[in-house]
This record gives sequence, C-alpha cells and structure tokens, in this order.
Amino acid sequence: MVTETTAATAPSVRLVDVDKSLRVGRNTVEILHGVSFEVRPAELVALVGPSGSGKSTILGIAAGLDTASSGSVFLDGTDISQLPERELATLRARRVGMVFQAYNLLPTLTALENVELPLHVPGGVHRPSSSAQELLTEVGLGHRLHHRPTQLSGGEQQRVAIARALITQPAIIVADEPTGNLDTSTGDELIALLLELRQRRGTTILVATHDNDLAVRADRILRVRDGRLTG
Ligand SMILES: Nc1ncnc2c1ncn2[C@@H]1O[C@H](COP(=O)(O)OP(=O)(O)OP(=O)(O)O)[C@@H](O)[C@H]1O
Ligand SMILES: [Mg+2]
Repeated sequence: MVTETTAATAPSVRLVDVDKSLRVGRNTVEILHGVSFEVRPAELVALVGPSGSGKSTILGIAAGLDTASSGSVFLDGTDISQLPERELATLRARRVGMVFQAYNLLPTLTALENVELPLHVPGGVHRPSSSAQELLTEVGLGHRLHHRPTQLSGGEQQRVAIARALITQPAIIVADEPTGNLDTSTGDELIALLLELRQRRGTTILVATHDNDLAVRADRILRVRDGRLTG
C-alpha cells in the first residue's frame, strides 16, 4: 500500500490520469480518458456536464465503488487503485459517505435506524462522535426520528441520507445529483444544508449535478465532456 507523506494534509480524494473502459459484448466502450483532479479537505467541488459524459462513473471511482482501468486513485492519502476488495470495503465504510439522487434509504427502517446503518457494516466505525439522533437534529429532523421513509417528504429523506453519510465522519461525501429529485425550493434548502455542514463541520463534498444553483455555490466546478475534464 502506498501512503502519501502526511495523510492530514493529503487531498481527500485525488485521481491521477484515470482511464475507464468497459467490455460490452465484443466491444470495448471507452468511458473516461486521462481524468486527473483532487478535492482538498473542506472543499465543495461540483462535476458538471451533459448526460452520459461520465460524472457518475468518476464519482464511483472516487468513492472506491468502481475501479479505474488505469491511473491512480488516492482516498484520504491512501492509494486505493491496487487495494484488495476487502481492504477497500473497510476504507470505503470508514472514509466515504455516499448520497444518491433517489435517497436509497431502507424502507423498513426508521430515520434513526437508517442513519445508524453504516455503523453495522463490517469494518465500519462503531463509535461515532455524533449519535444518529444528534445528526438528525442537526439536519433539521429531530422531530422525525421514528418515521419511515414513506412517511417523509423527498427533502426529508435526502436529509436522512445526508445524516447517514455523516455518521462515520467520512473524509469525503460523494453525492450524485443530490437535488435531482427535489423541486426547486426543496433543492435550495438542501443546498443550504450542505453549505451549512461544510461551514460548521468542514465536510468535504464532491458532487455531480445538473443543478446550476448548486454548481454556482461550489468552490470549484469541473466540467466533464465525453469522459474528459475540459476545465
Ligand atoms: N455498466 C456500463 N456498461 C456500459 N456503458 C456504461 C456503463 N455505465 C456507464 N456507461 C456509459 O458510460 C458513459 C458515462 O456514464 P455516466 O453514468 O458516468 O454519465 P453521467 O455523466 O453520470 O450521466 P447523467 O448526467 O445522465 O447521470 C455513458 O455513455 C454510459 O452509457
Ligand atoms: Mg450520472
């Protein structure tokens, strides 16, 4: 395992010359070409670009959910490109929080239980510094602890998903279209929450978005086109 000199000052995530191709039947589909960028601690970086340009693929690789075909990926100072799946799963459980467009909450669990879920993942963090109840209160849902996802609005479900992503105190939150299913005003509230969390907790966020209101509030915008960063 290669570790960058000082993890404390290392970028939360760094991709170096990442290519991604997939075999589909007898063909190889080239999805990413030479993608390099980093996200520093407490930065909010937005990936924008047309549908199919490769944003979700980049997020998956940055989060260690997917692997690069070539190039290197550093997560919180550790080179994850060559890590065996078991070690990668542990690192992912401890260092990455994921937020998806469709919230991805478990329907049979309450808000509180959904937020506690990452604590039960093998290799995960078992003693969080903030409890699920504290986090739900922090995202404005202290009065919805025992509601199930179907008893919550879309905006509320996404807040639960954010509290769930925070419970392990991850090095980075990777969010794929977090406002994609929300109406404009609920989306704006969610953007305000993300900015507030970053301000208060120094949360690092890499987000893919078609939402211009979110992109313009990022520290940096990375533009993706045909699997390449264009600026
Ligand atoms: N499993 C797969 N097999 C084959 N091609 C794939 C696979 N996953 C993604 N692709 C292709 O890779 C390209 C990038 O997809 P990706 O989902 O990363 O785009 P995106 O920028 O997130 O798009 P959107 O804005 O619609 O979410 C697309 O052309 C897509 O068809
Ligand atoms: Mg996508």
